[in-house]
Amino acid sequence: MKSAIYPGTFDPMTYGHLDIIKRAANIFDELIVGVLDNKEKTPLFSADVRVNILKEATKDLPNVKVESFGGLLSDYCKSKGIYVVVRGLRAVTDFEYELQMSQINRKLSDNKLDTVYFNTSLKYSYLSSSSVKQIAQFGGDLTDFVPDFVADMLLEKFDQKN
Ligand code: PNS
Repeated sequence: MKSAIYPGTFDPMTYGHLDIIKRAANIFDELIVGVLDNKEKTPLFSADVRVNILKEATKDLPNVKVESFGGLLSDYCKSKGIYVVVRGLRAVTDFEYELQMSQINRKLSDNKLDTVYFNTSLKYSYLSSSSVKQIAQFGGDLTDFVPDFVADMLLEKFDQKN
C-alpha cells in the first residue's frame, strides 16, 4: 500500500488545501493529513479544532486520515513508515522555502523521505490561511475560500476577540 503524508499548519484549512488533499487521495492508497501542533506558535485554532475541521471536510474521502503531530516531520514519518511528503506549490515564491524543507527532511531521514509537489489549482493560487484570517477579521466574504462551517467558526472567533 502506498501511503503519503500532507503536513501543514492548516490554521484554518482552505479550499486550496482541500483541493490538494482530494488530488493526492486519488493518487495514493492512503493519505495522512498531518496537522502540526507547535507549542511555540499561537495559532488561531487549537490543534484539536484544526484536526476536527479537516476531519469534517474530508469525511467523504475514505482513504484520508487526519492526525496531529509534534516535533520533526521526519520523525513522525519514520514512526508511521511513510516516505512520501505531499506539498502544494502556489507560485515560484513558495519554491525556495519548500525546496529547503524537502532537503532538510531528506537529510534527516537518511535520504528516505521524498517530497512531491502538486501545483495549486489556478483558482486557489492566491489563497492562504493568513489572508483568510485577515478577511474574516474585517468581516469580508469567505464564500469562495473556506467551507461555510469554517467561515462561521472564523467569524465567531473574531467576534469573541473584538
Ligand atoms: O502549512 P505550513 O505552515 O506551510 O506547514 C509547515 C510544516 C508544518 C510542514 C513544517 O513547518 C514542518 O514540517 N514542521 C515540523 C518541524 C520540522 O520537521 N522541521 C524541519 C523541516 S523545516
